[in-house]
Formats: sequence, C-alpha cells, structure tokens
Amino acid sequence: MWEPDPAWHPVTGGTGTSTVGVWRTERDGQALVVKRLAVPTPYDPPEYAERHHFAYWRREADVAISGVVDATPGLRTAPLDVAEDDEGITLTREWVEDAALNGLYVAHALGRFAGVDLGRRKWLAVGQLRDRLSRVERRGGWPTLARTTIADAADRLWSRRETLLRELDALPQVAQHGDPAAQNLPGRSGDDVVAIDWGTLGVGPVGADLGLFLQNAREDAEPLLDAYLMGLPDGLATPEEAALGMRVSAAYTALSRAEWALARVAGGEGALAGKYRHPAVAPYLRTLQRQFPLVEALL
Ligand SMILES: Nc1ncnc2c1ncn2[C@@H]1O[C@H](COP(=O)(O)OP(=O)(O)O)[C@@H](O)[C@H]1O
Ligand SMILES: [Mg+2]
Repeated sequence: MWEPDPAWHPVTGGTGTSTVGVWRTERDGQALVVKRLAVPTPYDPPEYAERHHFAYWRREADVAISGVVDATPGLRTAPLDVAEDDEGITLTREWVEDAALNGLYVAHALGRFAGVDLGRRKWLAVGQLRDRLSRVERRGGWPTLARTTIADAADRLWSRRETLLRELDALPQVAQHGDPAAQNLPGRSGDDVVAIDWGTLGVGPVGADLGLFLQNAREDAEPLLDAYLMGLPDGLATPEEAALGMRVSAAYTALSRAEWALARVAGGEGALAGKYRHPAVAPYLRTLQRQFPLVEALL
C-alpha cells in the first residue's frame, strides 16, 4: 500500500476531490511539494473517471506529461515529476515561492493565458460551470439561501441559470486554469505567473477564470476586468463578452459557495441569521456581498 514518507510535512489545503494529501519535503537542498492522487474506487462519484469533467481524477498528471503549459504566456507550470502505480499517482513539484502578486497583475496574466491554444486533448475540462450547477441541482439547489434576505435574488438567478449557461456557450471559448484562486497562483517568472494545481485545466467562456479569481481578490471587479482585457489578445473577444463571462461565473460561484457554507451550520439550534458571523460562514458571505453588484447586473 502507498504511504507518505513519515519525514514529509503535511501542507494545509490538499482539498482537491481526488487528492489524498499534499506534503512539503526537500531533496539536495531543493524544497519540494509532493501531491498524491488516488485512483477512483467504485464508491467514488462516476465523474472522477469522466475525462471532460472538472473532477477527472488524473488531469493534473496528464497536464504535466503533455507539457502543454510548460512555457505558455500568462500562466505556466513549475516543473513536475509524475510517478504512477496501481493505487494512484505521486506528483513531485518544486516549491514555488510566494511572490505576493498584485491582483491586477494576475488578472492581466489570466487574460494573456486565455489566448493560448491548448490543442485537442481528450482530458481538457469543458462545461465546468454547467457541471458544477448540475451538482448543486442534485443537492436541491440553494435551499439555505432561500431562508436569507437575498432569497429573491437567489431564486431569480437560479431560475435563469439555463438561459445564462446558453449565453456562456455562445461566447468565445478560451483556455482557462479552472481554479485560479490566489493560493494556486503563487509564483512569478518574468512577466508570467507560475501556477500550481492544474487539475481543472480546460476550455471555457472568456472571462470565466476572472470570475473565479474575483472571489477572493482584494481589488474590485472593474479594474480587474480592465487588466484582463489588456492581457486578452486582440480580436479574441469583445469587452462585453468578457464582462458577461466574468459576471456569470462570479455570481453563480459566490452564491453556490455561500449556500454550501451556510448549509453546514444551518442545522442545530438557533435562527439562521444568528450564524452569519460563524467563522466558517462569514468569509463566504463577505465574498457574496462584494459580488452582489454582479448578481444584480444579471437580473
Ligand atoms: N509547488 C508548490 N509550491 C508552493 N506551495 C504549494 C505547491 N504545491 C502545493 N502547495 C500548497 O499546498 C496547497 C494545496 O496544493 P494544491 O496542489 O493546490 O492541492 P489541491 O488540489 O488539494 O487544492 C496549495 O494551496 C499551496 O498552498
Ligand atoms: Mg489548490
């Protein structure tokens, strides 16, 4: 059975769906990160084995083996070693120093990366937002948000989801990292961001990556969109198209995450409103509050 080396130090995070764990170690003075992915079992959701699904278990290894983002403009990967066995895959990557990147710099890089041609590869993630919302739908939509003061807006956006997903399908489809949270974009090399956690690399509507980055960004949507547009190669998409992709991605992500956080504390004693300041909930509600103008723009 595969087991982590007892000398490795666990890293917090490591919450990817097929991630067994993430550890920090070193070899010859070089700091390294080891990430272990598990082969899906019959008890895992079937989508772990579906190559187009965002939760496809071994995409990060396939990305590394292909070399497709080794030298791309905007975002690229740090070198990664891949070792496979019967139970899973061990990925070993150089530790990427945190360059404390400015959000505008990152948004510009996301725009440049959108112009990359990833080629036709069977394991690229497609339809990520649609698949995420199907998952939410199977869990009953956003029932906890219906008990809050944003119930009306949430309900209207939930009923508009098919219309908006179709509008996204009609936008230019571009390269996207798929999980561009600041923690996954730590490093800098020349003009580019050195990104990690490439397990959701794929193709999606222009602006979608920016809508995800917005969730925890310190800067406001407008200047970030301007920076993204400056990075976007000429002729790829109009500013209106990028803005729509960003808004829809940001709004549905913020609402789904707020629902998820609230639902975790909604059981038990006491009124729901009394739990808004719970440390497991408050950050998600703050994010939602900041994204609310984007939600309203869609109604
Ligand atoms: N190469 C790396 N350099 C620096 N930090 C890393 C590296 N790989 C992982 N980490 C840290 O470990 C966390 C989890 O790793 P990640 O690959 O993002 O796993 P997950 O898919 O579970 O999110 C990251 O958010 C980051 O803080
Ligand atoms: Mg991550």
